[in-house]
Amino acid sequence: MLRPLKRRLLPGILALCLLSLLTGCTRSASPALTPAARIITVGFSQVGAESDWRNANTRSMTEALSEENGYRLILSDAQNKQERQITAIRNFIQMGVDYIVLAPTNETGWDTVLTEARAAGIPVIVVDRMIEVADDSLYTCWVGSDFRKEGRNAVRFMEGLNAQDGLRIVHLQGNLGSSAQIGRTAALDEGLAAHDSWQLVYRGAGDFTQAKGQEIVNDLLDAGLDFNVIYSENDNMAFGAIAALKAHGLVPGVDVTIISFDAGRRALEMTLAGEISFDMECNPLHGPRVDNIIRQLEEGIQPPKLTFVSETSFDATITREVLEQRPY
Ligand code: AHR
Repeated sequence: MLRPLKRRLLPGILALCLLSLLTGCTRSASPALTPAARIITVGFSQVGAESDWRNANTRSMTEALSEENGYRLILSDAQNKQERQITAIRNFIQMGVDYIVLAPTNETGWDTVLTEARAAGIPVIVVDRMIEVADDSLYTCWVGSDFRKEGRNAVRFMEGLNAQDGLRIVHLQGNLGSSAQIGRTAALDEGLAAHDSWQLVYRGAGDFTQAKGQEIVNDLLDAGLDFNVIYSENDNMAFGAIAALKAHGLVPGVDVTIISFDAGRRALEMTLAGEISFDMECNPLHGPRVDNIIRQLEEGIQPPKLTFVSETSFDATITREVLEQRPY
């Protein structure tokens, strides 16, 4: 069970002591007596629901920032639109929330609205993707993944592939301008620059969705493009790509090597089945991390400005036991 929020709890305990003195009653505190004033209000601006990863992330946040943990969470789904996130943040400021948590669509474009949040004295915690602002004091701290490092791990795996006539790579990108896309693309570009035998035969944005991944690969196959590797910047696009390959009578993992990111359970089933050859974990379980950050801030402790979560990768060596342990 998670620790209660000390600073918020103290006035409540004092109030209950006073109440028992006044009424002569000595019963212990019960959750029903919890004064509403102790609840911490958090406005969470979420990117959307584009992927399994995103849904696992939303679940993690709602579970950790729950009422029983002392929170009132206001969740706003931006449907992948930065304008909606900016509006949501302005609404949170109007409401006077205690904290704003931002899972940003894009890296840039946050300076104005975060200046407004700072002027209102509301701490902003950034999760998952990074933001690029002129003044770092516009956000309190960030926790998320090192996307370029994830990409470099995938590239290292590709370097071990045994392809006689080189790699002909289809690159499915995530939402352009998100740091998940920027980092993973940059790592592939490094790989391409370092290997003459690697050829980029197609690059396009699949927006992290299964439908777009499927549509792109389907069109490429219909057009007769020759490729032997798909570097998919997330699992859902890989699911779509796999469906398209199968619909064209190709065997994923045999005719085409699939490289993916996220490593959710559904994808790891495909890794175990040999359809995905390498899946780089991107950890979505930020809820407890954000809870921990807020508790530190409540106690006057400044958390580290940047926290990179540690992540692992999966390939043909994966076992059923490892898969069963995946929480998402
Ligand atoms: O920012 C994390 C990325 O966003 C995940 O890799 C992707 O699945 C999600 O939509």
